[in-house]
Amino acid sequence: MKTETLVGVTLLLAALLSVGAYQAGVGISGVGVAGNQTAAPSTGTPVAASAGGPVLFAANCAGCHGAQAQGGVGPKLAGLAKNWTAPEFAHAVLDGQAPEGRALAETMPRFKTAGFDGVPPTDEQVSAILTFLKKL
Ligand code: HEC
Repeated sequence: MKTETLVGVTLLLAALLSVGAYQAGVGISGVGVAGNQTAAPSTGTPVAASAGGPVLFAANCAGCHGAQAQGGVGPKLAGLAKNWTAPEFAHAVLDGQAPEGRALAETMPRFKTAGFDGVPPTDEQVSAILTFLKKL
């Protein structure tokens, strides 16, 4: 009786161990797959710091101001941009301040803190957007 019980327990333990090993194996291969999946997006093309005005506008502004700056949630910028100097435009985009000293509505992001993809825009990026808007 005692020996049979021991054999039974041993078999049970062996079975549990092999299930555990199987699960560990699945877990490890699962991690491998997940690792590959998370690595994949990094090979994609984020909006590069060197991206031009049209790309920067599409990524950061078009959602509110329209694909052709024709207006949407935010006002039309296409024609208006022609009258803005570069410093005025930068002040509006970075700090939410209109030339006449008026603070723009909160809906308009303060890009100095909001950033493009979390990174504060460079002067070159802001002027590239203004150049793009002036061409529309
Ligand atoms: C979440 C929506 C939103 C996004 C994104 C956005 N804007 Fe705006 N923007 C607005 C709104 C709303 C106003 C109007 C604010 C007001 O008049 O008080 C505005 C106003 C402006 C103005 C002032 C226009 C004027 O006539 O006074 C400029 C310039 C401007 N946005 C440029 C940009 C640029 C460039 C980007 C991208 C880098 C951008 N905006 C992204 C919503 C947005």
